[in-house]
Amino acid sequence: MALLNTTGLQGGKQKIWAVGGGKGGVGKSLVTANLSICLALMGHKVIAIDLDLGGANLHTCLGVPIPDKTLSDYLAKRVLSLKELTTPTPIENLSIISGAQDDVGIANMKQMQKSKLLSKLWELDADYIILDLGAGTTANTLDFFLAAHQGILVALPEPTSIENTYRFIKSIYHRKLKMVEDFLEIGPLIDQAMNAKISQNYTPSDLIRQVTEIDQTLGSKLKMEIAKLTPKLVINQVRTQTDVDIGHSMRIICKKYFGMNLDFIGYLDYDATVWQSVKKRRPLLLEYPHSGLVNKFDQIVHRLLNI
Ligand SMILES: Nc1ncnc2c1ncn2[C@@H]1O[C@H](COP(=O)(O)OP(=O)(O)O)[C@@H](O)[C@H]1O
Ligand SMILES: [Mg+2]
Repeated sequence: MALLNTTGLQGGKQKIWAVGGGKGGVGKSLVTANLSICLALMGHKVIAIDLDLGGANLHTCLGVPIPDKTLSDYLAKRVLSLKELTTPTPIENLSIISGAQDDVGIANMKQMQKSKLLSKLWELDADYIILDLGAGTTANTLDFFLAAHQGILVALPEPTSIENTYRFIKSIYHRKLKMVEDFLEIGPLIDQAMNAKISQNYTPSDLIRQVTEIDQTLGSKLKMEIAKLTPKLVINQVRTQTDVDIGHSMRIICKKYFGMNLDFIGYLDYDATVWQSVKKRRPLLLEYPHSGLVNKFDQIVHRLLNI
């Protein structure tokens, strides 16, 4: 993801990955937990952060009880440094920072708190920081997604989840447009392009074309910034080849409609080992190392690492 200096993220050595998606129960925490474990097993130092404030359960997917200190304590200034929140997990190289257990949802996090949190991530001793964003498209969730180096979307192959995923993509597109607008000071130009829209089938990618017609230089800058938006897509709970194909269709539609490169990086089968491991409160990859999903997670991590 592109880092405009509006995000508040500093240039540390850490790579930040964010896992999001339209709705709850699609497997965001499963993906966050197991991508973190894969990276840790490869020898990287990893911190998984549960930003699903209000619905935090990442700790269960990682096989740890609710840590004593959570992000609530940090946001309420009972704990002054993020470092104090890191709790080790049974997996070497992997720690967790747990989300709030009260109702302080991420939606309610103040702009200052969000910027502070983002700017303090670099103080953590980690190679990779993986954010479990929780459900929804609130401004804060979108900003964390956009600030990360990799933004990963998890979707189920069913209409409600697909709709929610498109809604999420549309929201990050508009959020990004707003950031670029302020950054390039092209608000009036975008308004002009918006006013010029005539057709019913006007798509966001038409907007860029329209801006380019008015001002070629700014139009291509805008196009470049939007092209930096390359969210990754994982389809979870796959049962048939048709389910897998949904990932490819979504990639094509995204390109056509938003001019955005959605990168379909893999799928995960529907597998009983997932809920069996959740019931045992044990990490899937450790409890069922021979599960077919292990290879799938491995492939996804390799795609994300560009290996
Ligand atoms: N690939 C899968 N196969 C079987 N069950 C799954 C799979 N992925 C998720 N689940 C089930 O869905 C539940 C919700 O997953 P979770 O990762 O907690 O979703 P989210 O974080 O998006 O709310 C899990 O507890 C598990 O029972
Ligand atoms: Mg979750």
